[in-house]
Amino acid sequence: MKDRIDALLAEIAGLKCSTENEIEQARVRLLGKRGDITRLFEEFRNIAPEMKRELGQKLNQLKTAAISKIEEMRDSAEQSVAVSASYDLTKPGDSYPLGSRHPVSIVRKEIIDIFRKFGYDVAEGPEIEDDWHVFEALNFPPEHPARDMQDTFFISSGNNPVLLRTHTSCVQVRAMETMPLPIRIVCPGRVFRNEAISARAHCIFHQVEGLYIDENVTFADMKQAILLFAREMFGAETQIRMRPSYFPFTEPSAEVDVSCNICKGTGWLEILGCGMVDPNVLEASGIDSKKYSGFAFGMGVERIAMLKWQVKDLRNYFENDLRFLKEFETYI
Ligand code: DAH
Repeated sequence: MKDRIDALLAEIAGLKCSTENEIEQARVRLLGKRGDITRLFEEFRNIAPEMKRELGQKLNQLKTAAISKIEEMRDSAEQSVAVSASYDLTKPGDSYPLGSRHPVSIVRKEIIDIFRKFGYDVAEGPEIEDDWHVFEALNFPPEHPARDMQDTFFISSGNNPVLLRTHTSCVQVRAMETMPLPIRIVCPGRVFRNEAISARAHCIFHQVEGLYIDENVTFADMKQAILLFAREMFGAETQIRMRPSYFPFTEPSAEVDVSCNICKGTGWLEILGCGMVDPNVLEASGIDSKKYSGFAFGMGVERIAMLKWQVKDLRNYFENDLRFLKEFETYI
């Protein structure tokens, strides 16, 4: 009898039942009316008295082990039922995390929205351009450094080489060639320059070009348009400062700084280049420069985004690092 008790104890210790049904079967097999343990108790009655003490203790130990094992298995089966019951299949699914606007898109949109309010339309042109639209029609002399392989990505060579546009000023030319006058447009777009990539330079960036052509457009009109833009973009207190400059396609030309109270040094920051469209440029696109005049300006989108958010490294705009992009989630 002692051996049978030991064998049952070992069997109980190794019992593994996971469903309610299996547990009940095990209980009946051990403790039911004809169960192994119940039978041992029956046999126990006829056992020699001198053995009773020792075997009685062992038998009780076996019964307690069986009961507690069954209880333990019931508890864990109940728990796993509870876990599976916590799945509410009527719940709506998890929503996909939504992306957010890229900082360059945010600033580009802000610039466009401001000029739309002033009555400007949006015009776009191809990123793969030809020498005529990027350089020749914009009055670039043949020896201009921008026309060098070191500065521009050329796709073909020859008479009117195909290249990646280095500025959005070429969209001016396309507009002047095709649109009826007067023209009042902003041209957002991506531009390419053969630059070594660093915190302050990149081979891809974005510009917004502006062009206004009509009869009697003056430098004062340009100054006013840019001042209003700067105040909308950077705040009502913003001042602008114009410095004489040179671009082949405008005459006179200027660079525009905005006042900046957080910048170290002078308190001014350059935001764009501008000027009165050179009569040569008007004529190259078939516009009568005696009758019409106009102004143009061009600004770098990343540059303005850098001013707005103090992002010091240009490369952030192109690496799609989610830690950076998530900073702009609140802008819609
Ligand atoms: N195209 C110039 C650049 O890429 C920016 C620019 C300057 C555009 C003066 C203009 C302008 O329209 O008038 O640096």
